[in-house]
Order: sequence, then C-alpha cells, then structure tokens
Amino acid sequence: MSDRLDVVGADLTVGGQRFVHLDYAASAPAVRAAADAVRDLLPYYGSVHRGAGLRSQRSTLEYERARDTVAEFVGARDGDSVIFTRNTTDSLNLLARALPEGTTTIVFDGEHHANLLPWPSPVRLPAPADPDAAVRAVRAAFESVRGPALLAVTGASNVTGEIWPVRELADVAHSYGGRVLLDAAQLAPHRPVNLSELGTDYVAFSGHKLYAPFGAGVLAGRSDWLDAAEPYLRGGGASLSVGDHDVTWATGPARHEGGTPNLIGAVALAAVCEALMQADRAELDDHERSLLASLPDGVTLFGGRQPRVGIVSYALPDAVGVADRLGREHGIGVRAGMFCAHPLVRRLGGGGDCGTGGLLRVSFGLGTTHDDIDRLCGILFP
Ligand code: ALA
Repeated sequence: MSDRLDVVGADLTVGGQRFVHLDYAASAPAVRAAADAVRDLLPYYGSVHRGAGLRSQRSTLEYERARDTVAEFVGARDGDSVIFTRNTTDSLNLLARALPEGTTTIVFDGEHHANLLPWPSPVRLPAPADPDAAVRAVRAAFESVRGPALLAVTGASNVTGEIWPVRELADVAHSYGGRVLLDAAQLAPHRPVNLSELGTDYVAFSGHKLYAPFGAGVLAGRSDWLDAAEPYLRGGGASLSVGDHDVTWATGPARHEGGTPNLIGAVALAAVCEALMQADRAELDDHERSLLASLPDGVTLFGGRQPRVGIVSYALPDAVGVADRLGREHGIGVRAGMFCAHPLVRRLGGGGDCGTGGLLRVSFGLGTTHDDIDRLCGILFP
C-alpha cells in the first residue's frame, strides 16, 4: 500500500506504551497525503478567486483542482455540483435550506443527529429491524407523499457500523419521483461513494473522518435545487453583482461558498480522495474484514445480516467508565456514550443521559493493526 495512506502519528506513545487509537468514527487521524498536500501548498497560500498575483493564481487553481478531484471521487454526473462545506452537518444543513418549497423529507430515527435535526418536520420512520423492512418502510412513506420528496439516509451507521441498503432505497425513492441524500460520513472512509453506482442524488461527507482533518466537508449532487435556493452564506464570492437595492447571486458552488473558502481543507481532502482512488480498495477491505473478525460481535440493528464497516459498539455496564480506564490505564482511545444518535442508542440498550450511559464503541481504519485489536481484546474480552 502506498505510503500516502500512512497515518501521521502512528507511533504516538502514552505511559511508555504505543497509543492505540480506536476512535476513527469520531475523527480519523491525518494520513500522509493530506499532510504533504498542506505542506506543499502553504508556500503558495493566498486568496482564492480574489487576486491576480502568484499566490492567488496558484491558490485558485489548487482549489478548483480539488473540486475536480472530489467530483471524480464521488462519480459526479453532468449537472452535479461539488460544494465545499465545513463538515457533514454543514452539508446537510445546506441541503435542508435548499429544498424546494413543500418538499417532504423522510428519515429513519436511527440516524445521527446531523441527519435527523436539519430537516424541516421530517416524516420520521422507526429504525427498521432489517434491510428489507427499511425498503418496505420507505416505499410506504413515498406512497403517501405528494410533491417533491427527499429521503435522507446514512450509508453506514456511526453506532453499529452496518451498511444500509442504499441502492435499493434509492431505487424505491426514484420510482416515486423522489430524491435521496446519502450521509456518507461513515461510509466514505471505508467504501467508494459513487453517486452513479449508489444511485443517490446527493452525497455528503467530512474531511475529519476521511483522514483530512483541516475543516472541510463536501456536499455533491444535483445542482438544480442548489442553484435555485437562497445562498447558504450571503457575502462576497456568493454574489456576482451588488447594486444599491439588489443583488445578483452566483450559481454553481460559489452561490453557497460565501466568504473566503477553506483552501487548505479542500486541498487536503482532495489529496486523500486521490490517494484512495489510487489505492487497492479490495486489499483495504480484506484487512478491515479480518480486523472485524477478530472482534466479538457488537450490537446490531439488522441482526447481523448486513456487512459493516470498521465500527462495533458494545452494551457494557458503565461503558463510559470502561472507556475512561482504557484511555488512562491502557493507552487505548475509544468513545463511549450516545454518539449523537440518541434514539438509536436508546433502542440498542445504551439508554441513559448523554455522558452517563450509552455504549462503548470501537472504530478503526487505515493504519489499524491486528496488534491494536488484540491489545483491546486482551483487556475487554480476556
Ligand atoms: N459523529 C461522530 C461520532 O459518531 C462525532 O463520534
């Protein structure tokens, strides 16, 4: 595997032992591709779309190159836009504000709060017991909807790691003339997220979970709603001309990228996208699967019927205390709690208030070794 996907800080130590990071689902470490891209760009850093000098010219070029790379990463189609945002939450809030008037949104209540809370009065479906039930529930929901409708669904759960039947759900939504937003925050670090192959209209993800923690995220997909919407951030860059009493807003990504954009974040994120496109994904998948096989089964929504990415959660008494001891006494970083997915965690037996109850989550990715998993298991499941 190319060293462009090597993790920065893989040799961190704490208390005399190597630190084992198993909290990738919250924030993944940077990889070399991102760090190198930032290092190479910094000498040229300047304003994007706002100047005539060397720095500005180079910065503008790199920013638009980053957009092209991300477009390739998500398999953007003719008529799709790629908008740089802050993170997935920002992307979903942007799309929520761009919905045509009267759009019905449909979500499952097993979603992360970022994909539950931005939507205006969504139809909230109970988290399904299996993938077929998810497809049936979405069909029934679309049956009763009139006018434009959007299903917003995760690609992989941030709690159970289970991969959702995205293609099937998209086919159902499209058969009723609806659209689909894929929250790929947890899927993109583990699997390709190609709009054409998955059949979704939009995809959103975060740089900080995709090994590029420099504050950029992405919303990509059909530009018609986005171009017709009010600008997400009103200001310079989003406006083409401003008169005494009127404004002509830009169309395309600029409409929603008001203010000076996050060039460093976009370039770092694109560098990781490029490295992943060049990587042997089958080899990465095989490694992830073998790591998963070394862990005891965790909680599932779909009863173990769906493949999962490298995320496994356990219902343990005092999960938060256990996570705390793993960090302080054993040099292992995991997350415990409700993972900003309170309805789902309560359903999976991790009830209680945020911070006092919840599940213990183990999540991993690039750079994770069998030794890492063995160290955890030696303590948690001796
Ligand atoms: N969404 C992130 C998580 O699941 C923060 O931990």
